[in-house]
Amino acid sequence: MRIQGIPQRSIREVVGGVEVIDQRWLPHEYRVATLKSVNDFVAAIKEMWIRGAPLIGATAAYGIVASLRAKRDNWHEAAKYDAAQLLATRPTAVNLKWALDQQLEICRNAGSQEEALKKCLDRAAAICDSDVDVCHRIGQHGLPLIESLYDEVLKEPVNILTHCNAGWLATVDWGTATSPIYQAHKAGIPVHVWVDETRPRNQGASLTAFELAEEGIPHTVITDNAGGLLMQQGKVDLVITGTDRTVANGDVVNKIGTYLKALAAKDNGVPFFVALPYSTLDISISTGADVEIEERNQNEIHFIQGLHEGEVKEVRLTPPSSPALNLGFDVTPARCVTGLITEYGVFQASEAGIQSLVQAAQS
Ligand code: MRU
Repeated sequence: MRIQGIPQRSIREVVGGVEVIDQRWLPHEYRVATLKSVNDFVAAIKEMWIRGAPLIGATAAYGIVASLRAKRDNWHEAAKYDAAQLLATRPTAVNLKWALDQQLEICRNAGSQEEALKKCLDRAAAICDSDVDVCHRIGQHGLPLIESLYDEVLKEPVNILTHCNAGWLATVDWGTATSPIYQAHKAGIPVHVWVDETRPRNQGASLTAFELAEEGIPHTVITDNAGGLLMQQGKVDLVITGTDRTVANGDVVNKIGTYLKALAAKDNGVPFFVALPYSTLDISISTGADVEIEERNQNEIHFIQGLHEGEVKEVRLTPPSSPALNLGFDVTPARCVTGLITEYGVFQASEAGIQSLVQAAQS
């Protein structure tokens, strides 16, 4: 998608590494970071210069490339060690393990470090290219859901609520939850997006709002607590969120606060869809309760970042002696999810639905 009219991807290869958009500074400053050493990759994922399940996976794949670029006698052991460092950065998004497993398998089968490097570089590029295609296909499958809500007589825009950032900045391009929205907009269907600010890191207010503004899509930023009232007032036609891990029974793990939106949607008869690439499915886990929930630094709650007199600044929100608990994700039970929008079509969030999705992916 575009920034100032110029088509971009969130990650691109440069000589000796990759360049990523350093998302910590958006929407106020556009900065790019070059990642070359494994330590750069670990910091970029852990400190959320880049974030979002698919982009975490794509970036980690290049992290192993960085490991293999370092000249070492014990390159195979080093790659395993570096993969473990990368895996420890963010526990909830399964795409991280998905991408690292692919690279480690290449390393296992390679006869030399050079061969492993070449093949891992190809695989990282393929993961990125495939993510663009997959996200585009998610949009194609989600588009009819928006189309069917558009009343051609009233010509009212379709009001879609989203949480966190499951947009192109969370993937390589298009996004997951936003892909149907972008494609509806391109197809001339009027849409309006309610953007949850998404405390504490405000990925909605800073990233989703930024993306939508750059694409010229009407949107309004709301507090995380406003969605329920808007649903009661009939001002939300559809909810679409992303997910960091969806498991065998259809439970959806996503940014903290997603569950409360799903409850409100269920109570108000608003369809609640979750968009995901197949790489975010983890059938090795039976229910969402078994997924490790990332607990992040308290300071993300104590401090808030914003623009003050032209400079990005942080200010404290809480009393110095108050502790905070910063849980990154929650579990939305499958029963609260209307459907899963994937690159293979729309599936029920249930054990049977997940089985059909697996079959579709394998056929
Ligand atoms: O902590 P983040 O910003 O990495 O969390 C991102 C989300 O929760 C997204 O909704 C999810 O990764 C899906 S992104 C396509």
